[in-house]
Amino acid sequence: MNAPDARTQEAPAVRAEPPTAAGRQADSEPIITVRGVTKTFGGVVANHNISLDVARGQITGLIGPNGSGKTTLFNSIVGYHPIDAGSITFEGREISRMRVQQIARLGLLRTFQQTRIYGKMNCVDNMLISIPHRKATVLDMFARHSREQLERAERLLHFVGLYEKRFLRAGDLSFGQQKLLEFAMALMNEPTVLLLDEPTAGINPTLINGLIDRLKRANTELGITLLIIEHNMRVIMNMADTIYCLAHGELLASGTPEEIQNDQRVIDAYLGAH
Ligand SMILES: Nc1ncnc2c1ncn2[C@@H]1O[C@H](COP(=O)(O)OP(=O)(O)OP(=O)(O)O)[C@@H](O)[C@H]1O
Ligand SMILES: [Mg+2]
Repeated sequence: MNAPDARTQEAPAVRAEPPTAAGRQADSEPIITVRGVTKTFGGVVANHNISLDVARGQITGLIGPNGSGKTTLFNSIVGYHPIDAGSITFEGREISRMRVQQIARLGLLRTFQQTRIYGKMNCVDNMLISIPHRKATVLDMFARHSREQLERAERLLHFVGLYEKRFLRAGDLSFGQQKLLEFAMALMNEPTVLLLDEPTAGINPTLINGLIDRLKRANTELGITLLIIEHNMRVIMNMADTIYCLAHGELLASGTPEEIQNDQRVIDAYLGAH
């Protein structure tokens, strides 16, 4: 499957597709609103009365100490689990009672704190099986993929810098390259908004700049709105337009990177803890 041919020897041009929204031109209406969201696990209040906005076309950061509720909030937004109270909208539509697949089909996708790729399959095949979010069923895994999908997979592998490695087993890639592959797999689903849970975690510092560059280009060139959980302060301060900081399951502060960096509550609760 997917042996190289004459066509695939040539690196495809990177182009934004599908024709995208206006990239950085933020809309006045937030693309995601979170209002009064509470989520408990048994006796643990993982999120308490959280409200925030994700601006269309921008990069929004979500920070906070370990266990402050960041991943829980992601899981609530993408429909991984029901919330106990509150409301979440995506493009003006209430999504807090929808299921993961339904929300994904609307164009709201996430990546995971732990990488989820198939190590024994090559990069192109990993890309092709990542499509089911957008298509009907898991049977797509066994379907013949269209030339269009194959070309799209190759274009996106080129976009993340993995084109030359497209026929390597994903398990043979470095950890940083696997993160790039996972990012490209998410892009296969044509997200409007992508939620990234600690995209640079565990990546060699010398590869982090390449990943930051790709994430920024996905935002500016492909017009994808990004919501990013990140522990690396240099990364998030460098990328985000707006940052929200959680502590103990509650929203502690929000603002520009500069405001957050100088917010004493954030310094005490988070930055000071490192
Ligand atoms: N499925 C679950 N069952 C029980 N408790 C959970 C579950 N998921 C999260 N929690 C608890 O909710 C709290 C918030 O966890 P969460 O994973 O959202 O934090 P986080 O900010 O993403 O942390 P980290 O920075 O370590 O990834 C923690 O106390 C955690 O133990
Ligand atoms: Mg987490």
